[in-house]
Amino acid sequence: MSRIVQPHSIASERVFASAGALNVALCRHIAKASRAAIRQNGHFSIVLTGGRTVAGLYSMLRTQSLLWEDWRVYWGDERCIPAAAPERNSRLAMEAWLDHVPIPRANLYPIPAELGAQAGAERYGELVSDIDEFDFVLLSLGEDGHVASVFPGADSEESFLAVAVRDAPKPPPQRVTLSIGRLARARELALLVVGTGKRAALAACRAGAPIPGATIYGLPVTTVWCDAHAATAGNGGIEEEAA
Ligand code: 6PG
Repeated sequence: MSRIVQPHSIASERVFASAGALNVALCRHIAKASRAAIRQNGHFSIVLTGGRTVAGLYSMLRTQSLLWEDWRVYWGDERCIPAAAPERNSRLAMEAWLDHVPIPRANLYPIPAELGAQAGAERYGELVSDIDEFDFVLLSLGEDGHVASVFPGADSEESFLAVAVRDAPKPPPQRVTLSIGRLARARELALLVVGTGKRAALAACRAGAPIPGATIYGLPVTTVWCDAHAATAGNGGIEEEAA
């Protein structure tokens, strides 16, 4: 079972007037983080989220002129469907962004979920086992409080780095996901929360409900990036459109 986390003070939350303003600010923030990491370590490792909320950010990143040759791209989860299927999380990122920037193809590490949940999890767990911490992790909050493919009530078996999921309530049922513990080992984590449909889940995270999103919310490395529709009153000012 997911660990019940204690209610926390409001984590670091940035609230934007619109998803567009959020994407501009987050794109600039990631670009800055990438330059700092490359200056310090010679590379920038980022874990991408699935779902559709992130599509706007990918389109912004596509327009940037960054040190792409030093980027290393991973995914937090993937659906066990053919690699070319339109609903693949990796395909959305490739089409909206990665096919349009010169990141060496060898530095893109999609999850081989097409092999099946167990084989994919074993392969990906091996791949990420020697990474101490990722420079940046992107996650989108699900309506039920899930992140990546860690759903409420899932056995949070943290001894594995990557986990086979066979009963996901969000189709498809079979998935591969990084564990919460592996996702948490990051220099910085951005939790994306956009739209009124996510308002209740964000409130539950703030209250420390027994959901994976609340565990992520409570991490010191986490910043919530949300729009005004998802945020409720009382969590600070709304950041205007980036200049
Ligand atoms: C997936 C993702 C899932 C997604 C959230 C948010 O396979 O869909 O792993 O965790 O990121 O459900 O999805 P939206 O951004 O589409 O709301």
